[in-house]
Amino acid sequence: MPSETALAFANTHQSKFLQHLKELIAIPSISTDPDHKTDMQHAAEWLQKRLLDIGMTRSEIYQTPGHPIVYSECLAAGPQKPTVLIYGHYDVQPPDPLDLWSTPPFSPTIEQDYLIARGASDMKGQILVSMSAVESVLAQKEFPLNIKWILEGEEEIGSIHLPEFIQEHRDLLACDVILNPDAGMIAPDVPTIVYALRGLAYFELRVYGPDHDLHSGMFGGVIHNPAIVLAEQIARLHDEQGRIAIPGFYDRVRELSAEERQALALLPMDEAYYLRQTGAPALYGEAGYSPAEQVGGRPSLDVNGLYAGFIGQGSKTIIPAYAMAKISMRTVPDQDPQEIHQLFRTHLQHTMPPTVRWELTMLGGGAASISDLHHPAVTAFAKAMRTVWGKDPVFKREGGSIPITGDFQRILGAESVLTGFGLPGDNIHSPNEHLHLPTWSKGIQAIIHFLYEYAIG
Ligand code: BES
Ligand code: MN
Repeated sequence: MPSETALAFANTHQSKFLQHLKELIAIPSISTDPDHKTDMQHAAEWLQKRLLDIGMTRSEIYQTPGHPIVYSECLAAGPQKPTVLIYGHYDVQPPDPLDLWSTPPFSPTIEQDYLIARGASDMKGQILVSMSAVESVLAQKEFPLNIKWILEGEEEIGSIHLPEFIQEHRDLLACDVILNPDAGMIAPDVPTIVYALRGLAYFELRVYGPDHDLHSGMFGGVIHNPAIVLAEQIARLHDEQGRIAIPGFYDRVRELSAEERQALALLPMDEAYYLRQTGAPALYGEAGYSPAEQVGGRPSLDVNGLYAGFIGQGSKTIIPAYAMAKISMRTVPDQDPQEIHQLFRTHLQHTMPPTVRWELTMLGGGAASISDLHHPAVTAFAKAMRTVWGKDPVFKREGGSIPITGDFQRILGAESVLTGFGLPGDNIHSPNEHLHLPTWSKGIQAIIHFLYEYAIG
């Protein structure tokens, strides 16, 4: 059976696959940092070339006003066979704070079962899972189905140019389903398929007071401190129930059905799970909802960064001229991030005191999405996971965002199988990001099984 020889191929080429992953990780493709522009191009070129090496028949780089997009295909199975479009993003989040890494972020290091590096889990490791699986299948010279790839370099900054690219290349990207391994698993022994993602609305809020830093003795008491104004505004964004206190914010929130709440209650994601994952002393959240509901099915608001005044060593007596916060909200169906922007702006207009000037900028966003659990590809993937893990996958709502999922539905009319082999403890977006290699290997087998399984239909 070709699937067995493909699985055997994957087993004998493990160390080669890992070598390739290390090569890709060593390219510091930080999309948000202009200093890494050439690294973005290098990563795209590395992928474009690797795709040809694994047997794809076409592999191209498309430039965008931002970072390049890699498209590749092998349509050798013919038009009567299904086509899977595999999605990935080769960009990573900045590695800072650097001093908290135990090994350099772009020098992949293996410690016991883990590969430690920025991008190891989110998501270069996941791209290499798919590539290694496809390589193992293509090496059989019998093609169960057609494969296309779309690999972008802007996911971590909101997939800025991807929707337009998809719109312009609808025919090129035509497919029966999208395989997106940018989601993850609940635990190494809990195979997981994600069916909903939250959206995002990301803002920068600046508050300006005096036109320069002031001596806080000469002016303290007559000048309103922008840091205090900002702190008060932030404090006002939640009410006592842990709900977001922007008027109108919940108007479009689609309520969870009783059925869905029952299903979510069965997931191994209780209070103890979140305490263990985070090291926080206690949980916080919207009253009346379980942790799995709060993360997957309810919106949230966070301060991602905060800056004001003197933050060096020692003390300095000033009233700062300005204060700034990065504030983001995770949205759920059917909230619209642009509308949330308007609601937030109106709220600030009503609550900001006349003692300061302020500016609100929306830095990015994307809609939430829900995927069709009855798609044949989901059934095939569930079966593949069952074969590898020996148990049925669980279906969960994810709190993170992959905004392009909704665009794929809207523009291509294509559903996504959202999966992945990263784990909640992988420290993604954080120092010492790592990848659990045994789960990674299982992921390769699962995708091989899936490709054969889905091809039979
Ligand atoms: N892979 C993550 C999303 C994710 C995280 C899925 C955890 C499942 C579990 C993705 O790369 C990501 O971080 N997305 C950003 C999107 C944003 C910048 C638009 C996010 O969620 O912050
Ligand atoms: Mn990410």
